[in-house]
Amino acid sequence: MAAVNLGLPRSARASGEPRVEGRPDVPGLLDRHGRVARDLRVSVTEKCSLRCTYCMPEEGLPAIPRDELLTPVEIARLVGIGVHDLGIREVRFTGGEPLMRADLAEIIGMTHAAAPAIDISITTNGIGLDHRLPALVAAGLNRVNISLDTVDREHFAALTRRDRLPAVFAGIAAAHAAGLTPLKLNAVMMRQTLAGAPDLLAWALEHGCRLRFIEQMPLDADHSWLRENMVSAEELLAVLRTRFDLVEVGRDDPSAPAEEWLVDGGPSTVGIIASVTRSFCAACDRTRITAEGTVRSCLFGDDETDLRSLLRGGADDPEIARWWRGAMWNKQSGHGMERAGFVPPVRSMGAIGG
Ligand code: 5AD
Ligand code: SF4
Repeated sequence: MAAVNLGLPRSARASGEPRVEGRPDVPGLLDRHGRVARDLRVSVTEKCSLRCTYCMPEEGLPAIPRDELLTPVEIARLVGIGVHDLGIREVRFTGGEPLMRADLAEIIGMTHAAAPAIDISITTNGIGLDHRLPALVAAGLNRVNISLDTVDREHFAALTRRDRLPAVFAGIAAAHAAGLTPLKLNAVMMRQTLAGAPDLLAWALEHGCRLRFIEQMPLDADHSWLRENMVSAEELLAVLRTRFDLVEVGRDDPSAPAEEWLVDGGPSTVGIIASVTRSFCAACDRTRITAEGTVRSCLFGDDETDLRSLLRGGADDPEIARWWRGAMWNKQSGHGMERAGFVPPVRSMGAIGG
């Protein structure tokens, strides 16, 4: 019987202080390939209310023991160090599903207090957002990205293994009502939902949402991703063009992963994140912290640097900043999917956070 891969590292690969030979003595999160990370993603939980097949195993990810999760105080301290010592300009909380943390408002509030000038956002599946949003906005939340792959209820239930599309619609309506606009929607392109892509775009335009399609990456816990099954940006464009006139307008800024297309003469656009067929690793400006408090320099790099032990061991801010810089200095140049013998990372998307 094949071993079940639960998407979490089989053994801790977090190593000691990263080596920094050749690194210039600059404060920012520079890497060997000349990139500087300014955009921080913090995963706050592995739990989720859905089980998207391209992300989670059917049974969910194994629970992270409570004492291994970063606390709101620890998260806010790390973000504060990122902003004040390392040049971080924005922070996004992800999961799993960040709304699964009952203390998300506390996390946001403490983060906002630690770094009042920066933008705080979450990537969410939208379920329960309608109930939670007032407290999150009061705590300092500025923006939300909502994941929505299809507006067909049956396709949604098959893809996410849960019949929750109406709850997602309620979350989107609540985000609009709270004035979190323009609201961004993320859709992973899958073979089963490809035919419905024009309906999804029409729905997004009608509801004043900025839709971005994402090429499926080999980050599913089941390791069933196959390059030949993946829907490419090119294929998606052909399907969208059966209903819409699309003109390429390029990226909003050089490090933006999405390439934008003007829809039917504008002003609305649709974005396509061609992570696989037109990799943007060379312009990547991301740094990630996992729910257990390790720095992950790349989605595809399983080598992690443990900051939680430093936090809990009484390290001061400069020492934590030094380890974080070292972790990022060693960031790999790209995902390496195009290489023969590519092996997907041990952690799946639900355990990294997107
Ligand atoms: N490939 C691309 N995007 C993914 N996401 C989750 N798994 C994958 C994958 N395998 C996206 C979700 C969500 C964000 C957290 O990451 O759709 O928008
Ligand atoms: Fe949950 Fe998001 Fe993963 Fe879907 S993609 S299972 S909503 S964490």
